[in-house]
Amino acid sequence: MTSFELTRLLPSDHFARALREDVRRGLTAPAKSLPPKWFYDKRGSELFEDITRLPEYYPTRAERAILTARADEIAAATKARTLVELGSGSSEKTRLLLDALGALGTLREYVPVDVSESALREAGRRLAEDYPGLAVHGVLNDFTASLGLPGEVPAPRLVAFLGGTLGNLNPAERSAFLTALRAELSPGDSLLLGTDLVKDPAVLVAAYDDSAGVTAEFDKNLLNVLNRELDAGFDPEAFEHVALWNAEQEWIEMRLRSVRAQRVPVPGVELTVEFAEGEELRTEISAKFRREGVAAELATAGFALRHWWTDPEGRFGLSLAEPVD
Ligand code: SAH
Ligand code: AVI
Repeated sequence: MTSFELTRLLPSDHFARALREDVRRGLTAPAKSLPPKWFYDKRGSELFEDITRLPEYYPTRAERAILTARADEIAAATKARTLVELGSGSSEKTRLLLDALGALGTLREYVPVDVSESALREAGRRLAEDYPGLAVHGVLNDFTASLGLPGEVPAPRLVAFLGGTLGNLNPAERSAFLTALRAELSPGDSLLLGTDLVKDPAVLVAAYDDSAGVTAEFDKNLLNVLNRELDAGFDPEAFEHVALWNAEQEWIEMRLRSVRAQRVPVPGVELTVEFAEGEELRTEISAKFRREGVAAELATAGFALRHWWTDPEGRFGLSLAEPVD
């Protein structure tokens, strides 16, 4: 029998308080912005899964191609007894790692970590059906607030951070995150990191502004979250989804542009937020990387890059790294 248990690492009021703080700060700043973690309520997690199947959204397919080709090599190199996955979502691609580590015979436990309780429970339910005997220990956590990796699990641990989610953090957040992660790892543990790569801006923009409008719906879902959690009065129709390539920073930015001047009540934080016509709220950055940049960020945080793989078209990079002193 597969066992599934769910642990909450943060105090029960953490998310409500953190959302209020982010909204107070982000919607009163001269350039409005909110962190992307608030996309992922139940509907947001479902919409992200829809995005992964869009013809324009290549990262999931590209990363899956690498994992399909390299999972056995990753299993042999890490001999992981515990697979910890940060921002695990549906855990679909992770099955390739679970299968390879299972075939090698080392895997004892899988620890998916996510802010989305619905994603964790749904993934846990599906894994229970398909992986009898695997202990699945879901952790509801915000990895930008505290890493909180489980220590009481069989070593060595392989920490997977897939999908390119590292790119949703800004450079300072990435550095803090990788440094904190390094501090929690021991010799013999490994990090498997997926990063989307710099490419033709037209390909990138299309991946974040698909013709079916699913990414636009995902972007606007943030407004539904604010309406529900903070009793806010956003009209999603009064905003349009924008995706643009910031060539200087080498990241995609998603923004919601106010189609008219408007005042939006947000009673949960005792604010009325004014938007000028055309004013934008930045909802996400999605940084795109080069091999040298990934290696440098890892090295600064105390990791050595041991393997670098890409898909045949060179769209996505997968790094296997080890903690070093
Ligand atoms: N790894 C999966 C899902 C990527 S979507 C894949 O490659 O397809 C990003 C996931 O990270 C979502 O499930 C989201 O809920 C989660 N996430 C985003 N910000 C997070 C945070 N700060 N802490 C924990 N999980 C987070
Ligand atoms: C989760 N993350 C890596 C996705 C990305 O591509 O940056 C989120 C996303 N945003 C729009 N589409 C997908």
